[in-house]
Amino acid sequence: MHATAIAHANIALVKYWGKRNAELNLPAVGSISLTLDALWTRTEVRFDPGLGQDRLILDGEPTAPEKHTRFLDLIRARSGHNARALVTTQNNFPTGVGLASSASGYAALALAACQAAGLEFTPTELSALARRGSGSAARSIHGGFAEMLVGSAPDGSDAIALPLAPADHWPLVMVIAVTCRKPKEISSTVGMQRAAATSPYYQSWVQASDADLKQARDAIRQRDLVSLGEVMEHNCLKMHALAMSARPAVLYWKSVTLAVVEAVYELRQSGVAAYFTVDAGPQVKVLCEPGAVDLAREAVSQVSGVEEVLVATPGPAAYVVQGAET
Ligand code: PMV
Repeated sequence: MHATAIAHANIALVKYWGKRNAELNLPAVGSISLTLDALWTRTEVRFDPGLGQDRLILDGEPTAPEKHTRFLDLIRARSGHNARALVTTQNNFPTGVGLASSASGYAALALAACQAAGLEFTPTELSALARRGSGSAARSIHGGFAEMLVGSAPDGSDAIALPLAPADHWPLVMVIAVTCRKPKEISSTVGMQRAAATSPYYQSWVQASDADLKQARDAIRQRDLVSLGEVMEHNCLKMHALAMSARPAVLYWKSVTLAVVEAVYELRQSGVAAYFTVDAGPQVKVLCEPGAVDLAREAVSQVSGVEEVLVATPGPAAYVVQGAET
């Protein structure tokens, strides 16, 4: 009745932004991501018939478990037992600041809880389950490059992530400029729902999604960084244009975010192939090949307001921690 799992965060190269069904967390667009080795969540789930309610310890602090309870209810319904759980979860990076902690968090929770409940789920079923916690978590079940399908089944069974290429397919590096550790004020769910309801650009975002996904898929297959970087930046800026054009506006960027983006443009002008993306927070992720890492790291470190620079390479699929390691 207990198990521990580790899942790695992933960063979207082509973003998920918008839901076609909020209850089931069904995306309005597909997305493509890279799972990262350096950022992970480790979660232990211990079902205990003696517990009156679920308990959550997040990064050492007792935390309100409501969202986790709703998620664990899905597993209790599938497994037929009703025990409450103690969930102990640890991120090795800042939580809730736009570094994909919900992706690794719900992927690790899905895997640990299924294992603890004795449910033998395939990676596809786990992906659909993880999606219920957070759309991007569906992709963190897989290592390397993954694609989240938009799906069409009303029950969401085909809104799942599939592996696109393994971690060793292309040794890209993500240099992450951490600019602020304060939790974001507007969650991605609120941001995307508001953009869908009020941004005048939302329909064109959805319509252009297939073309962006195709370019990214082809670029990954051919290891073409210029093409991948071009569509990644274009797609990121469109996502933020949607957020900014919502009413009221959702602005995740700080001035230091723009300063890092400008540093990336300067790098490129000097002949270094490096490309940025930004999620629902002010951090900037810079994608490059191993030979450019030192220059990219130096360029972003020099920007005033950058607090820390993390370096990540393609990471593994989510896994159950065995035996003595637990
Ligand atoms: O999975 P959520 O609900 O945290 O939303 C993720 C939103 C972005 O990180 C901005 C984009 C993405 O595809 O990961």
